[in-house]
Amino acid sequence: MISPGGAPRVLAGGDPAAVAEAARLLRAGRLVAFPTETVYGLGANALDAAAVARVFAAKERPAFDPLIVHLAEPADLAAHVLAEDAADPRVARLAARFWPGPLTMVLRRREHIPGIVTAGLPTVGLRVPDHPVARDLLRAAGIPVAAPSANRFGRVSPTRAAHVVRSLGDRVDLILDGGRCRVGVESTVVLLAEGRALLLRPGGLPAEAIEAAIGPLTHPADGEPGAAALAPGRSGAHYATAVHLEIVDPARPAAAARLRARPGERLGLLAMSAAGAAAARAAGGPFATVEILSEDGDPVAVAAGLFEALHDLETAGLDRIVALPVAPVGLGRAVMDRLRRAALAAPRDGAAGPGTPAGGQ
Ligand code: TXA
Ligand code: MG
Repeated sequence: MISPGGAPRVLAGGDPAAVAEAARLLRAGRLVAFPTETVYGLGANALDAAAVARVFAAKERPAFDPLIVHLAEPADLAAHVLAEDAADPRVARLAARFWPGPLTMVLRRREHIPGIVTAGLPTVGLRVPDHPVARDLLRAAGIPVAAPSANRFGRVSPTRAAHVVRSLGDRVDLILDGGRCRVGVESTVVLLAEGRALLLRPGGLPAEAIEAAIGPLTHPADGEPGAAALAPGRSGAHYATAVHLEIVDPARPAAAARLRARPGERLGLLAMSAAGAAAARAAGGPFATVEILSEDGDPVAVAAGLFEALHDLETAGLDRIVALPVAPVGLGRAVMDRLRRAALAAPRDGAAGPGTPAGGQ
C-alpha cells in the first residue's frame, strides 16, 4: 500500500473547538481535510496561492488540473465570478434548487482568484457543500476554500477519514472526521459560462435533475477534440485501484471466462445488487471477496458505497477485481464513469499495482 508517512492529526468534525482550530489553520495557509456530502476534500485558502500550491504538492497533482472552490453560502458566488455570469438566471435557479449540494458550477472568474486554483483557466468551479462540518468550517474560516478530493492524484477518492489517513498521511495538517460521506461520488460539474450548458463531469446530482431545471445539457464525449481542454483532469485514467479491475456484464456469454477464478487466483467481485452477485456466482467464481453495494440495486446506495468498496477490495489481498455494470442513467451515470476510469487506470491483469511499493502514485 501507499506509505502514509507520519500519523496525521484527526479530530472529530462535530467538536466546535476542532472546527475552530481547522479554520485557524486554513487562514494560516495550512491544509485541512474535511468531510463533504460527496467525498472528503483537501482544503486550502483559495485566495492564498502558496497554500493552494501545497495542495498540488500533497496530492502530487499536475498543475493543469483545476480545483473546485467551496463557499459557505450560495450568495457568496457573486463575489467571485463576472457580474454577467452571476446574473445568469440559470445560475440563480440551479443555486436555489441544488445548493447546498453536489453541484459545481463553472463560471468566468474574477481576477482575485489565483491562477493556480483554476490551472490558468478564465473560469472557476464553485460549490456550496451540503455537510454540516464543511459548512461550519467554511463559515468559521470566512474564506473561500479550494479543495480537490483528499486522495493522491489518480487514485480512488476518500469517503471516510481513514481513507484520507491512508492516502495522504501527515501531508495534511489536520483531518476533520465527519464519518462516512452520504453521497459517495463527487459533485456534478457543469460549465455555464457565456450561455453554454456543458456537463463536464457526471456526479452526485443526476444530470436529469439539472436538465429539468434549466433545459438540455451538452455532453462533451470523452476523446472528442476539445473535451479534455474544457474539463482538464478528466481525460483518461483515474480512480486507480492497486489491483487490476475490469467491468464484466454476466449477461454476456463471453463474460463467463472473466468471471471465473483461475487456479490459485484470488478474485474479488463488486456487485451492485444481490441479484447481480447471484448471477455472477452462477456464471463464474469462486470469489474470495464479494462486495454488494445494495441488496436491491438502489442507485443512491450504490453510489454511496462505491469508493468505500473499492478501498476495501484493493486492500483485501486480491489478484483481480471484477465489477458488474449499472445502467448509466441518473446516479448510475456517475457510477459507470468512475468504474470505467478505474478500469482504465488499474494495473493490467497480473501486473503490480500502482499502490505497491515499486509502483507509481
Ligand atoms: O464533490 C466534489 O466535487 C469534491 C469535493 C471535495 O467537493 N471535489 C472534487 O475535486 O472532486 P477534484 O479536484 O477531485 O475534481 C475537480 C474537477 C477537475 O478535475 C475538473 O475536471 C473540474 O472539477 N473543474 C474544476 N474547475 C474547473 C474549471 N474551471 N473548468 C473546468 N473544469 C473544472
Ligand atoms: Mg478527485
